[in-house]
Amino acid sequence: MSVIAVVPAAGRGERLGAQVPKALVEVAGEPLLVHAVHGLLSAGCVDHVVVAAPAAEVSVVVAAVERFGSQVSVVVGGAERGDSVRLALRSGLTVLPGARVVLVHDAARAFTPVEVIRSVVDAVRSGLPAVIPVLPVADTVKQIDSTGRVVATPDRAGLRLVQTPQGFDVDVLRKAYGLDSDPDGASPMSILNTDDAGLVEQSGIPVHIVAGHSHAFKVTTPFDLAVVDAMLAQKAV
Ligand code: CTP
Ligand code: MG
Repeated sequence: MSVIAVVPAAGRGERLGAQVPKALVEVAGEPLLVHAVHGLLSAGCVDHVVVAAPAAEVSVVVAAVERFGSQVSVVVGGAERGDSVRLALRSGLTVLPGARVVLVHDAARAFTPVEVIRSVVDAVRSGLPAVIPVLPVADTVKQIDSTGRVVATPDRAGLRLVQTPQGFDVDVLRKAYGLDSDPDGASPMSILNTDDAGLVEQSGIPVHIVAGHSHAFKVTTPFDLAVVDAMLAQKAV
């Protein structure tokens, strides 16, 4: 049962504010996206990885993933995350037309433990259509209105923080992205472009959870890079 992983890495990284797009920011001598791809391949259950690269950085990304050989290919990403996922998924399905499982994994979650990747793949392989890794919510969460006034306090026991890789039966994600009906079209307008499972939920398909991991956090701000350094220093001990 072949597994494709799609890695959206085409964002600008505005909140990080580095000189280069976030996926190319180096940690321990390697760009974040190389760490992410390495993690996926190290899990031992991913057959092919497609990276969606920033349009201006395709050759840099191709050079960065060259060491992985033909197991990794690169496409030009799109304007929104969902566009990047759609373009990479379309390409991945031509490389491995027989794939049954697809993972979507943010390059920015570069240090996701292999155990999380394996448990998502195992859960999809066991027959679940859509699987996401999640963590409990430690903080109280407020819902606010457009003026910033608090309107509700949802019970955090029923809330989860969502990570990647998110895993899907290939047909489920292909349908959610409208690839069968309009392969060259844009991403669906309804897309919550931070979350592929959200798109699948909208088509009424059940989404299941597995345990995420604190190391799978998304590198978003300069503070997160400091956390990564601390995490890697701890691992090296
Ligand atoms: N992404 C992408 N294509 C886009 C936008 C985002 O492939 N047009 C990717 C990012 O490269 C990242 C992942 O989606 O790996 C999650 O997005 P996010 O963390 O928001 O990254 P950026 O969009 O790069 O950061 P920012 O929102 O701070 O600009
Ligand atoms: Mg973004």
